[in-house]
Amino acid sequence: MKKTSEYLRTRKSRGERIAMLTCYDFPTALWEEQAGVDVMLVGDSVGTNVLGYESVREVTLDDVIHHVKATRRGVSTAYLLADLPSGTYDEAADALLHAGALLRAGADGVKLEGFRPEIVSYLTDRGVDVCAHLGLNPQVHEKHALQAKTADAALQLIDESAALEAAGAFMIVYELIPEEVAREATQRLGIPTIGIGAGRYTDGQVLVVHDALGANAFELRHSRKYEDLRGRGTQAMRAYVEDVHSGRFPEATNVRHLPEAEAAFARRARRRVQDVPSGRNASARPADPSREQQDFDEWCGHMAYHE
Ligand code: KIV
Repeated sequence: MKKTSEYLRTRKSRGERIAMLTCYDFPTALWEEQAGVDVMLVGDSVGTNVLGYESVREVTLDDVIHHVKATRRGVSTAYLLADLPSGTYDEAADALLHAGALLRAGADGVKLEGFRPEIVSYLTDRGVDVCAHLGLNPQVHEKHALQAKTADAALQLIDESAALEAAGAFMIVYELIPEEVAREATQRLGIPTIGIGAGRYTDGQVLVVHDALGANAFELRHSRKYEDLRGRGTQAMRAYVEDVHSGRFPEATNVRHLPEAEAAFARRARRRVQDVPSGRNASARPADPSREQQDFDEWCGHMAYHE
């Protein structure tokens, strides 16, 4: 069953948590599907986790489109959410144009940062699923620090959340806010809340898949490392390099041989190699080059057939 925004809302009403992970490519989407991930997010974190950018602000719409298309090919049931990158939703008309491009690439809905109820309502009125994103907004905040940590800021975040829900947002991501604030907001809202560094009481959780799999060098307090992909992956690659350098790979089981019927040709080829003069005469041409070419073409034809 394909997971829709209504399905996610139903999960909240039933008290069932929502598991969301970022996803940027086809094979990871297949793994996430198999694992039962509810929402895959092609986040602008693709910039710092995959593309080697310094900041998510460098991510372009084309970058996200490219990764949405790749991810889509591996999605069968999960809800596929895509980030509108920085600078693509300053004006409502631009937001619609760019959201449309993400939906055409295969996204089911878009996510945008900050308190932008006018953009949210403009998009949702036109049939676009919009997920809001409050708390730490990496497209805006230079420093990755806890947000909404005063009573006033906490109340403001809760009010803004209610206004975004009223504007039509189907879900809200809270990043790096105190657990108490996220808990209160989650209780007040009818739409699902998803936390990253927002404590235990949101309706769902999201992690950057590279953090969850341990692909990055750093560790984050709010995250959990379920695998050591960086360590184990590097170890595996080192083993491969050593095998190639030492000649241990490939071995007999990796090799394919000439079919029996072609063995006669192999014997002829071996004989010819033995007949080729070595040293200064190595470039001497064979007695009948056209015949040799003919034999070789014939053999290539056979080999193509046997492949
Ligand atoms: O881009 C991203 O990965 C995100 C998550 C942190 C929610 O927006």
